[in-house]
Amino acid sequence: MTGRSLPPTASVAHAQAGDKLRAPAAERNATAIATLIARIAPAEGLALELASGTGQHVVAFAQAAPQLTWQPTELAPDRLKSIAAHMAEASCDNILPPLRLHATQSGWAADHRADLIVLINLTHLISDAETRSLFAEVAQALRPGGQFLLYGPFMRDGQLISNGDRTFHNSLISSDPMIGYKNDADIRTWMEDAGLRNAEPVEMPANNLAMIARAG
Ligand SMILES: C[S@@+](CC[C@H](N)C(=O)[O-])C[C@H]1O[C@@H](n2cnc3c(N)ncnc32)[C@H](O)[C@@H]1O
Repeated sequence: MTGRSLPPTASVAHAQAGDKLRAPAAERNATAIATLIARIAPAEGLALELASGTGQHVVAFAQAAPQLTWQPTELAPDRLKSIAAHMAEASCDNILPPLRLHATQSGWAADHRADLIVLINLTHLISDAETRSLFAEVAQALRPGGQFLLYGPFMRDGQLISNGDRTFHNSLISSDPMIGYKNDADIRTWMEDAGLRNAEPVEMPANNLAMIARAG
């Protein structure tokens, strides 16, 4: 991670055979997100996934949008190995070898161009400033007309919408007061500030929200 202190429930992944890790959350939400990706994906081009995690997602996404070349990225060395292991098992020929990418550090967009950028379940684990910096990099890395798909748990109109969300958000801010659920309206404003236009909210299972914005 970014050196931030997180509660044990924040980023759960269990060891599997070899280098493979399995995240129960990724197992639960992969189909719903992959279905959304299949609906919005461009006809061709490169999809960059930030903070890919175990690699379970990129395999599902590459199967859902086989017309795209998928580039998984991560910061954690064990997760980079896990992505490679999941890719090897799935033998998809439209996934590039995983790259180390520090998504909240400015500057990475100079080396990346993409038609679709996907980010799942990171913004509640980083600060407001890191989220804004990440959006600025996303806007710079997207080709004209490119899309950004953001997914995660968010406040709606400043409210936490279930007991589970309240418990999780409170556990995050008691580990680190700089992190926690972001508000949907702030996300939209920060996207606009970065040059990411017309963020369309899509309600997803288990109180999660996807937002799809376009490079301006
Ligand atoms: C909650 S997990 C989500 C992983 C994956 N997107 C998913 O939904 O299964 C958060 C992931 O973000 C990665 N991460 C944390 N900070 C990061 C950063 N600054 N840049 C890139 N990855 C980061 C962690 O290593 C972890 O795999």
